[in-house]
Parts: sequence; C-alpha cells; structure tokens
Amino acid sequence: MIKANELRQKFLDFFREKNHAIISSTSLIPENDPTALFISAGMHPLVPNLLGEKHPAGTRLANFQKCIRTGDIEEIGDLYHHTFIEMLGNWSLGDYFKRPAIEYSWEFLTSKKWLNINPDKLGVTVFAGDQDAPLDKEARDIWISLGVPQERIGALGKEDNWWGPVGQTGPCGPDTEIFYWISDQRPPKKFDPKDARWVEIWNNVFMQYNKTKQGAFEPLKQKNVDTGMGFERVLAALNGFQDDYRTELFKPLTQGLENLSEKKYGVDEETDKMMRIIADHVRAAVFILGDDYGVTPSNLDQGYILRRLIRRAVRYCRQLGIEVKTNAAVALARKVVEIYSKTYPELEHNKDRVFNELQKEEDKFESTLEKGLKEFQKLGKDRLIDGKEAFKLFSTYGFPLEMTQELAQEKNIKVDVKGFEKEYQGHQKLSRAGAKQKFKGGLADETEQTARLHTATHLLHAALRQVLGSHVEQRGSNITAQRLRFDFVHDEKLNHEQIKKTQDWVNDKIKKALSIKCEEKTVKQAKEDGAIGIFTQKYGERVKVYTIHDPGAKEIVSMEICGGPHVQNTKELGHFEITKQQAVAAGVRRLKAVLK
Ligand code: ALA
Repeated sequence: MIKANELRQKFLDFFREKNHAIISSTSLIPENDPTALFISAGMHPLVPNLLGEKHPAGTRLANFQKCIRTGDIEEIGDLYHHTFIEMLGNWSLGDYFKRPAIEYSWEFLTSKKWLNINPDKLGVTVFAGDQDAPLDKEARDIWISLGVPQERIGALGKEDNWWGPVGQTGPCGPDTEIFYWISDQRPPKKFDPKDARWVEIWNNVFMQYNKTKQGAFEPLKQKNVDTGMGFERVLAALNGFQDDYRTELFKPLTQGLENLSEKKYGVDEETDKMMRIIADHVRAAVFILGDDYGVTPSNLDQGYILRRLIRRAVRYCRQLGIEVKTNAAVALARKVVEIYSKTYPELEHNKDRVFNELQKEEDKFESTLEKGLKEFQKLGKDRLIDGKEAFKLFSTYGFPLEMTQELAQEKNIKVDVKGFEKEYQGHQKLSRAGAKQKFKGGLADETEQTARLHTATHLLHAALRQVLGSHVEQRGSNITAQRLRFDFVHDEKLNHEQIKKTQDWVNDKIKKALSIKCEEKTVKQAKEDGAIGIFTQKYGERVKVYTIHDPGAKEIVSMEICGGPHVQNTKELGHFEITKQQAVAAGVRRLKAVLK
C-alpha cells in the first residue's frame, strides 16, 4: 500500500536528488494561452520554455500539476477517466534527453529506495515510426540496456506513442510509455499494451519537433523531455485497484454517496456509474471554483463547463434518489476539501466561495426543474411527447430522458425516444464542433498584440490600486488578440469618474514611455520587494518579476510576478480605453479594455 501523499513526496524527492527544481502547480486557468480554457497537462504552462524561453527555476524541473481534461467528459463514469487529474511530471528544457529520462523513470519505479516495483510487472512501448518521424530505436535500445526483455517492448504508431501539441501547433514528439500489470495473476511473458490488465502509468515524451501551422514537423532548436504520470491511476495501480474510485482520493465520496442514497457502491453497474460521475464532477467543480482565479458558473467558457459539471452531478444525485434537502453537492464538496486541502491550500482558503457557489447553482437548477415540470404538464395532448419536445425538456430544463419517460408513463403518454436521440445527436455534433474549436484551437501565438495587452493589464492593475485602493487584487485575467479582461476584488460598481481616472492614469504611463524590466527572484524576495500578482508558487521558488519604473517621478509604477510576455516600453501600447464593466461574483468586478 502507498498513500497519496507518500507517492507525491517520493516523486518530488527523487527528482530533487537528480538536481531538478521543484516548481508549484500553476492555476487551472491558463495565463498566457487564450485558446484553451483549462490547463490540460503538466507541460501546458511550460510551453514557452519548451520552445526556448528561459525558465527562472532552471533547465530541470519537476512538479505535480492540477489539470482539467474536458475532452474526456463523455467517458467519465468508467473506472479511470477523470475530468480533474493531478499530473506528476519531470522536465528537461534542452538539458538531458532520452537516456537519462528513461533511466530516471526505471530507477524511480523499480529501485528498492523508491517504488520498488518488480520489473516483471512492467512493459513499455516506443514510437513505431511513420512518414513524419522514424522508429524510436534509440529509446528501444536504452530499454534493452536496462534489462527490459524484447517481448516486453511494444512499438505503436502516432495514435499511441506520440504526444502533443497541446493545441494545433507547438512542441511535440515521440513518446515511450510504461505499463503496469494490474492483475493478481502472474504477468504473461509477452506484453500486450491492448490488454486492459496492462495499465499505462507513465508517459515520457521526447519533445524534439515543433508542429507548424502547415502541419509539418520541424526539429526543435532545443531537445526537451516532458513526462507525465496520471496520479490517480498510478495510485490505484500501486495499491492493486483496477478502479481509481477505490483509492483514498475518491473513497470518502463514494461512501458519502452511499450514505446519501442508501445504495451500495460495487453492486449494480448503473448505480456505480452514476456515483462515479457525481464524484468526478463534484471534485472537478471544487477545484475549478477553489482556484485562485475564481471561476464561477455561467454560460460562457470556463464558467459554462463548471455549470455543466455541477448540473450533471445534481441530476445524477436526483436519479440516485438523493433529495434536494440533503444539499448533496456541498456535502460532497466538503469531503473534497478535506481530502485535498493540505496539498492544495487554496481549497481551504477559498472554501466558503466554493460551497456558496455550489449551493447557488444547485438551487438554480432546482428552479429550472420546477419550470420544466410545468412545461411538461402542457405536453402530450395527443398522448405522445415527440423528439423535439423531449429534447427541449432535456436541453432547456435539464430533464434526463428517463425522467421524461417516467413522468409520461404515469399519465399513460408515450415518448418518441428515437426522435429524441436524433435531436440529441444533432446537438452533440454541433456542440462537439464548437467545443473542439475552443479546446483544441491551437496555442496562443505570442504576438506583439498579446504582449501589449499583457503590459496594459499590469498598468490597469496598478491604476485600480491607485484609484480604488490597495484592496484591489487580481482574481482573473484573460487576453485575446482584441482585448484584455481583468477581474479584481472590489465591492461596488465603478462610477464614471473612477473609470476616467483609471484610464487617464494608464495613458499617462504610456505617454511617459517607461521601460519594462524583467528580473528573476525567489517568491520571498519578490514579496519583500512589494511585488503583487497571483502567488501560486512557494516561497523559495524562483519566478519572473516585471517592473515598470518611472525615473522622473522616482517611483515604481508596477511590480508584478508574472510569466510574461511583455513589451519593452510602455510607449508601444498606444491608447488605452476601458470598454465594459460587469460584476462577476459577490465582491468581484470585471473590466474589459482595448488598445487603440
Ligand atoms: N504531456 C504528456 C502527457 O500529458 C506527458 O501525457
């Protein structure tokens, strides 16, 4: 048996011994990639560094990173897919390449000092080669040199043994994957990666290519290593579970659901699936709500994903017979915070917001359920609810088809299930197409415009602290090619004069043509120097700090901890204009602004 914390700690200790700097998990919301809604892999926040930008912590890094994978949403309910995952990873940024990477993985997994896994329980795959890149002989030979038998080395194509890019373009390359034999029976001599008893536990990506807009694979200037272990899956495998929901990360949730529903987990497949979906969705919702960027449910972007997760969880709770008065979402969320608050202190810190927002959303959904019931009463005059009507109940009021059928049956009315499915599939296609564009829309190209808006955001932040007071703290930021968006702590609507003052302050700094300096410091030093920004990193970690200094006035205009990119001088910004203000949540306001 290995505990979750022990596994995280061992991983970090191992790589610390191998001279890796341990970096913190970033927020779940990408800071510099407006084309993606969530961070989806450990390497995602490191893309600029994989492309050659210097990382303040060095060229060897390791961490565990919070990730949200929305692409897997339809698969949730099985034993090992999750919307939220933690990813253990180590990186070489143009430092070591294939041999050390493979040796490190092997040592960590099999050495007595570390995980002490019997090598007989392991198998590996390498990239088989295709028109874009050759068979990865080098990786295969390294495995052989470590004593892995030939029959335990598989070779697969791009589908399986190639990773990235995270969007349509960017760093990517062949990978080698490590599999663990999960069954109690003796492992067969020959390794078959398609046999479900061999579970993939670790992926080592050799990022040596950059995929271009034209679809070509250009060799990267710098050869990198990017690895990822799906924490939940590894923890389950090492503890002999085929079902991740049996681990300490989920057990309090399935137990909570057993108590709430008076049903048992592990008896009936349909009930189990619903319990897994609820546990998964509530857990992901808690991490999104509990992030320092403070996303709240809405009909847009991250907020929409969050809404869908909460409502789907609530819907399944009702289907399991869990009543409204139990406030199930919040009851389960409390358990999530208990499980994770030591590892992710932001959950403890933001827990009131998490619980309030969950409760509000559950209540809201309850109200559409009521309206939906009224709508339902009007239907079925000719003893049939057609596909369109059933679908409207589903899409507008969140009625599952089974519930519509049950209600209809009581009134002796039929439901056109085939018609419903047709509508549903049409809609799925549409929303999938929409979702694809959003989630796989390619990496942010670090255009000049992004850098300009980034610098403008720092000036806006500083201006708001001048005009409104030092209680103004960043809650979120998002930049597209057209505009910036900035969320911050403030209770009231800004009046006309405050908007004007803020704008003038920023434009004054632009006119003064101030230069922007980037320095690397520890978080401790940055804090002592008075830097602001969202601090997700630990005290000793090295970070970048951007400072805008006004030599004429002998004052620091802005000093923020931030990943960049920024322009060199404020004169590159042109003219700054605030275009919109909104309330996002209690005590949080949003401004949108453009540069002209
Ligand atoms: N980036 C690789 C993955 O997510 C390691 O699997």
